[in-house]
This record gives sequence, structure tokens and C-alpha cells, in this order.
Amino acid sequence: MKNLKNALLLKQLYQLRQLGYKYTSATVYKEDEPDLSLPDTLEKLKVQAQQCHLCELSKSRSSVVFGEGSPQADIMFIGEAPGVTEDSMGKPFTGRSGELLTKMIENVLLIKREEVYITNIVKCRPPDNRVPTPTEAHTCYSFLLKQIELVKPKLIVTLGGTAYHYMTGDETGISKIRGTLHQQNGYTLIPTYHPSFLLRNPSAKKEVFEDLKKVKALMEQF
Ligand code: URA
Repeated sequence: MKNLKNALLLKQLYQLRQLGYKYTSATVYKEDEPDLSLPDTLEKLKVQAQQCHLCELSKSRSSVVFGEGSPQADIMFIGEAPGVTEDSMGKPFTGRSGELLTKMIENVLLIKREEVYITNIVKCRPPDNRVPTPTEAHTCYSFLLKQIELVKPKLIVTLGGTAYHYMTGDETGISKIRGTLHQQNGYTLIPTYHPSFLLRNPSAKKEVFEDLKKVKALMEQF
């Protein structure tokens, strides 16, 4: 059967040659390899993030909330996702939970908010402030990894369970794990409660105060 097919094919080729077709050597179509590496400066990375349409969140966002702060910060704070205020301002933690975060940084760590770097697991606001889906978090993760690589913080404070989970892969609840130290990828990670949880549960502020005291003690060793 195969021989018959080949013979018919050959016959067709001969006929085409008689009609004037010429054989040419086949050139393999080679597409240029796309450059998938992310830029090596925060400014260029921000521009790339602002043009990102890799997940559903890009459809409903008003702005991409890339992150802000000192590019040489020793401490990075990572939240979950921008909320409505952040989405309209384009800056992380600018709403009520942002005010509380600023107080936590300035009153307990005794440094200016501008001296740390603040960002989120996902850079675009999930509709109705829902938790980002695993697909959204994983899609956005390469931006966060590159931010960490460029800023090189010595300490990362994750705010809330979602940020801790995506930064470590560990699913332990935040009330159990907060205040513990985790060494990974050249930095120390310390999980604590999210400021918006504190707004709803002010009695948990004392635990965050303890966690930040640990951060302060570590800062003194830098
Ligand atoms: N909550 C977050 O997790 N991040 C923000 O930027 C604001 C609120």
C-alpha cells in the first residue's frame, strides 16, 4: 500500500516536471527564537509589566501596580494584590491597609516607607478584591522573581497567607506560621498578618508588633 502511494506520488512529480515545475532544495522554515528573558532594570521591567496581557486580570484593571520603593532596599514587603485604591493610583498599599502598613514600617522599624520596597504577588487588581487564582499568581510570578533578583533584599516580609503561600509553596495557615523565619534563595522570609486583616481584627496587632520586632532585630545585624 505504501509502495503504491509512493509510486503514485513519484508519477505526479514526473508529470509536474514535464509541465515545467522545477525541484528546489527544501529550506526548513526557522522562526526567530523569541527572547523570553525579562529586562535587567526595574524601570524596564515595569514597562514590560504595564504592557502585560497574560492573564484575565489585565482585562479589568485600570492600572498595573508594579511596586515601589528603594531599588536597593534591604527589606521587601509582599502583599497579595492591588485593591480598588491601588488600581486607580497605580501604587501598592495606598488605601486604608496601606496607611496601616506605613505606620508599621515607620513606627516599629523606625525607617521611612521609601526605604523599603513594596509589591504584591499579582500586579493587577482581581475583580471584587477576590483572592488571585493560582493561574494568575503563577503567571505574574516571574515579574516578582525578577524584582527580587534586582532589588536583592536581605529580608522579605510576606503580608497574609496568600503571599506566604506563593512565596514558599507551603500551605500552612498564617496564624500558625506567622513570625517564623525561613531561609531561602539568599534572603530571610518572615510571614506576618496582612494589614487588612488587622483592620478587621485590631487585637492581632500585638502579634504583628512581635513579628516586626524580629525584623528590626535582624536589620540591626545587616
Ligand atoms: N492589599 C494588598 O495585598 N496589596 C495592596 O497593594 C493593597 C492592598
